Amino acid sequence: MCGIVGYIGERQAQPILLTSLGKLEYRGYDSCGIAVAAGNIKVHKDAGRVGELTKVIPQLGGTVGIGHTRWATHGEPSQVNAHPHLDCSGRIAVVHNGIINNFLLLKQQLIAEGHNFVSETDTEIIPHLIEKYYDGDLGKAVETALCDVEGSYAIIVLAAGESKLVVARKDSPLIIGLGDRENFIASDVPAILDYTNRVIYLEDGDVGVITLDSIKIRQEGVEVAREEHKILWSAEEAQKGGYEHFMLKEIHEQPKVIRNTIGEYVSAAEPVADLAIMADTNLEGMLILACGTSYHAALVGKYIVEDLVGILVRAELASEFNYYPQTLAGTGAIVITQSGETADTLKAMKRLKGVGCRVIAITNVVGSSASRIADHTVYTRAGPEISVAATKSFMAQLMALYWLALSYSRIDTRRLDSLTMGLRQLPSKVQQVLDNGDRIKECAKYLSRYENAFFTGRGISFPVALEGALKLKEISYIHAEGYAAGELKHGPFALLDKNTPVIAIVAQDNTYEAMLTNIKEVKARGSPVVALAEEGNETIRELADSVITVPPVDAIFSPVVNTVALQLLAYYTAKQRGCPIDFPRNLAKSVTVE
Ligand code: AGP
Repeated sequence: MCGIVGYIGERQAQPILLTSLGKLEYRGYDSCGIAVAAGNIKVHKDAGRVGELTKVIPQLGGTVGIGHTRWATHGEPSQVNAHPHLDCSGRIAVVHNGIINNFLLLKQQLIAEGHNFVSETDTEIIPHLIEKYYDGDLGKAVETALCDVEGSYAIIVLAAGESKLVVARKDSPLIIGLGDRENFIASDVPAILDYTNRVIYLEDGDVGVITLDSIKIRQEGVEVAREEHKILWSAEEAQKGGYEHFMLKEIHEQPKVIRNTIGEYVSAAEPVADLAIMADTNLEGMLILACGTSYHAALVGKYIVEDLVGILVRAELASEFNYYPQTLAGTGAIVITQSGETADTLKAMKRLKGVGCRVIAITNVVGSSASRIADHTVYTRAGPEISVAATKSFMAQLMALYWLALSYSRIDTRRLDSLTMGLRQLPSKVQQVLDNGDRIKECAKYLSRYENAFFTGRGISFPVALEGALKLKEISYIHAEGYAAGELKHGPFALLDKNTPVIAIVAQDNTYEAMLTNIKEVKARGSPVVALAEEGNETIRELADSVITVPPVDAIFSPVVNTVALQLLAYYTAKQRGCPIDFPRNLAKSVTVE
């Protein structure tokens, strides 16, 4: 999604803005631009990549500026719709993330007052509103302008003749990076990590006036202090480190991610979360909410918590939950979000809080919006995930769920000890899957020839099938459907033929026999079957056309090894098809609009 950056200091702003924008490319975008104040405001922007803009842009000069990567919502990707946007005089420039809901009304009013608009964007009303209220105090003008605006925003405002930037946020993240006689602004940490690891997270409703050596933040007109935080990961962690793609690097980081995430919890002096909600025996149930891959973690979480804690769990898509007539008032909820900024998830959190639910957030990003809204935050230790396709963050989410469920489990000591030991062995089990990469590559070569595929599983393997299909479709562009294996015969059988392979996830649990039956049914309809099964399972070899094996684990941990195998399958299939793996078309890493 859109990314924004700003710089004010003693260095030339242009190279810093372009470098910072390059670090935000992973979020997904279609156009980009920068504006630098050098006497007047100079703007360069266009549809296309930061690298292309960098090649054609002249030296702008100036030590204060703003930049943007745009992911189109209002109006196609084009030069005129790209940010920054200007007011009528060309003296006020704005970059914006978010959506202004009442922009049409405001635009009509501003046009009636004599303002001219050039783009189709909602953003363009902001510089015009600021122009309307500007009487020499830029900070005040921004505050007044934002009173007219309904919607979400993170903005940076640059004005000719002003040695300051004005920033503001509501429902869209914005951070200030602190330097020595220079300050940086960005929507996301990787943008500024080359320059500083000291940051301030702005809160909703904050308006900040930033100079090269001062930061003044106001909330509803009153000055407020915001704490400084240190970013614990380094710029190197956000590099490819010799791998061809971020996705491959991140898949290979998973043994370390499991160790880090579990290690953190094991060594914690206190429980990772006060799950009184889980310990409450009168509890009717609990809710787990998320979107995309995080939702698949939530579905696995349902099985884990129901099995180990013995309470009823509802796992729901946050984007749909927002329209359900009923919540689960009074019960506890967990929300899972890698970025901590997914708009639908944040909306669901606010809804839950509104009806008195206690909310625990599982997120990878310290200081993210989710962590601010939640009553308690469980941080995953996946480190920066750059590839749009979530891999290691999913793994870290599973670890958080295993650990939470084990901490509050109502199982006997023998099983608890055995599972705790099994959990600790997961890094080496995942390493064994990674070491099997060549075999998975062969299957990927085979799969890459098809245009449609089904992924099937039962029980705890059903969400794994959903995740396998999501990974394949998003990076290889093969149409893939994750399906509950028992449901294929209720409709999708009509689609099965020799051109529609079925990837069957066979766990060694109470679903095993039924899965074998389902595989036979699929074979009888002529579809090729690739089975994912435990090492040593000879029965499967006789049934399936091709088998990918994973090391044996307790069935409750099977999503871990199976998902890693499916991540590699998706990766090598996409590679075989020559797809842009880290930045798939039309997708964004962090989905900050509904
Ligand atoms: C999957 O590979 C995607 N990156 C996507 O489905 C993602 O999981 C979803 O947008 C939710 O993001 P979040 O975890 O940051 O909330």
